Amino acid sequence: MILDGRKTAQQLKLGIAEEVANLPGEKRPHLVAVLIGEDGASQTYVKNKKIACDKVGFHSTVIKLPENTSEIAILQKIKELNQDPHINGIIVQLPLPKHLNASLITQSIGPEKDVDGFHTESLGKMILNQQTFLPATPFGIVKLIEAYDIPTRGKHAVILGRSNIVGRPLSVLLSSNNKYGNATVSLCHSKTENVTNFTKQADILIAALGIPKFVKDEMIKPGATVIDVGITRVADDTPKGYTLQGDVDFENVQNKASYITPVPGGVGPMTILGLLTNTLQAFKKQNQIH
Ligand code: GUN
Repeated sequence: MILDGRKTAQQLKLGIAEEVANLPGEKRPHLVAVLIGEDGASQTYVKNKKIACDKVGFHSTVIKLPENTSEIAILQKIKELNQDPHINGIIVQLPLPKHLNASLITQSIGPEKDVDGFHTESLGKMILNQQTFLPATPFGIVKLIEAYDIPTRGKHAVILGRSNIVGRPLSVLLSSNNKYGNATVSLCHSKTENVTNFTKQADILIAALGIPKFVKDEMIKPGATVIDVGITRVADDTPKGYTLQGDVDFENVQNKASYITPVPGGVGPMTILGLLTNTLQAFKKQNQIH
C-alpha cells in the first residue's frame, strides 16, 4: 500500500488553515525563507514552501541573496529578522554555497524562530523529550507513520543515513517514549558493515542516504514499511533534463513491502507540513495564544 504523503499533508494542512482562520485579531504567522545562490533544487523547495504558506493563510517572504554573499552580510540579515516582531519563523535553505559555514548560520537564528529545528537548543530539547520545534523531515515522517496507524512500539526501525537533519534526529524520535516512538532503532551509515543484515530485520526501514535506488527487494523483510527520504535529480533526456529518484528501487520493492512511500509525493509534502506546524507553533508562542 502506498503511503500517500501528498494526501496526508493536504488533510493536515486543512487543520492548520482552519486554525489560522480562527486566530484572534489580524496578525497571521509569517515565515521568512533565506535562499542563497542558484541551486535549482533549493529554488524549487523554497517555492513549494512559499506556496504552502499562502495556502494555509500564512504570510511568507523569500529573501534571495547572490551566491557570493558574505557570511557577515547573512549574519547581519538574520540578526535583523530575529529582532523583527512581525516575523515568527526563519529558515535558511540548505545546502549553502561552499564558502559559507552552515552551522554558524543556522545557529544564528533565534531559537524561538528556529522553525527548521536545527538549533542546538531545539535539538537538545528534542533529546530530552521537551516541547520544541522538531526538524521538519523527521517530524513529517512520524506524522505520516501516525496517520497510517503503523505500529512503532517494540518494532525494529532501521535508518540508513546519519545526517544532522534527517537520520540522527529521526533516531531520537523513533526511540523516544511517546506515541510515535518506542521503537528499537538501528542507525546505519557509510561505515556500517553488512548493511543488509540490518535492513532485512527492519519492520520499518527509512532510507535517507541520497543514493538513488539503493534499497532492493532482497534487502527488505516481507511486509516491512519502507520510507524513502531520497530525492536525487538524475540527469536524463526528458524535457526537464532530469528525473527525481528516491533511495528505494520502488518498482522492485513495492510488492514485498506492506507500506511504501513514493518519490515524489511521499516524504516531501510531509516535510513542508512539519515546517507549517512549527511556524504556527512559533506564532502562537510569540503571541501568547494557547
Ligand atoms: N535542505 C534539505 N532539507 C532541508 C530542510 O528541512 N530545511 C532547510 N532549511 N534546508 C533543507
